[in-house]
Amino acid sequence: MIPTLAWTPEGVRFIDQTKLPLDESYVIAATYEDVAVVIETMVVRGAPAIGVSAAYGVALGAIRSTAESSESFAPEFERICARLAGTRPTAVNLFWAIDRMKVLFASLRAGGASMDEVRERFLAEAHAMYDEDIASCKAMGALGGELLPDEGGVLTHCNAGALATAGYGTALGVIRSAVEMGKKIHVYADETRPFLQGARLTAWELMEDGIPTTVICDNMAASLMKAGRIQAVVVGADRIAANGDFANKIGTYNVAILAKEHGIPFYCAAPWSTIDTATPDGDAIPIEERSAKEVTHHGGKQLTPHGVGICNPAFDVTPAKYVTAIITEKGVLRAPYAESLREMELVG
Ligand code: MRU
Repeated sequence: MIPTLAWTPEGVRFIDQTKLPLDESYVIAATYEDVAVVIETMVVRGAPAIGVSAAYGVALGAIRSTAESSESFAPEFERICARLAGTRPTAVNLFWAIDRMKVLFASLRAGGASMDEVRERFLAEAHAMYDEDIASCKAMGALGGELLPDEGGVLTHCNAGALATAGYGTALGVIRSAVEMGKKIHVYADETRPFLQGARLTAWELMEDGIPTTVICDNMAASLMKAGRIQAVVVGADRIAANGDFANKIGTYNVAILAKEHGIPFYCAAPWSTIDTATPDGDAIPIEERSAKEVTHHGGKQLTPHGVGICNPAFDVTPAKYVTAIITEKGVLRAPYAESLREMELVG
């Protein structure tokens, strides 16, 4: 399994995703501040991986704290949570994970837990989120793998793979599972400008698994679809609103429109921690704007004229009407999503 992140006695060890695919190196985050920086700089990225990382960040905050009681730790705990929550705004998994730690801390505090107990329980909770994330990806894979064709091209955008989760992946988990079922899938990975998660990360991890993969520039998808080379699209999500609209890597919306035009099924695979029923629709999802330098420069070399205007939203919103199905670990949801999400949430 690709080692996206792992707990070690020194702290959390991350594979450095800014260096892949040519350099497989690791960084250790020894403090919660290190974890925050690792998330901000995209050493670790992908909604579920960000959530699990933040949970470990909170655990590290408690482990490194000199507070002697859960009461005296409380103000520091708030600062730790606020710092981690301020790293990236779109992936709801980040806030989901921090909220889960807040609920745990409230119950530990109410029970008069010692600081040692807080440290132990925080770490156990982060480990539980890690394990649950992999289990969710495997369950999504089993359900979603059935939906892919027995043979053909599957297009994906960005990296929703093992590297974007604790392991196995959401969209790439669906593809992995289809391949494990014996399906003959050829993956087309959009390069995913400007950060190139598709060209660098999706291509790397699928090649590690020996899954046939072709990288295409983002502007090639339409002509490949027209040529009959794409039989399905599967992508991940950073936040799914109550009506089924979802935010994912910038360019996902384009792919969804193209898929609809060509009559190709378009699937979104995400764990329940990505679903945010408190956000009514896609317009209410906060979209992160990242540094202009990601667009103006490539490999340290400037591509654009000095002073030109630059726009760099990291995500876009795909309206629910383009989504053939949402694949979660609890089941495969179909439109109308407001109803199917509500029903599935009630089932628990
Ligand atoms: O900016 P990133 O690389 O964190 O964006 C990642 C994506 O958009 C993924 O598709 C999404 O988080 C789903 S990951 C399973």
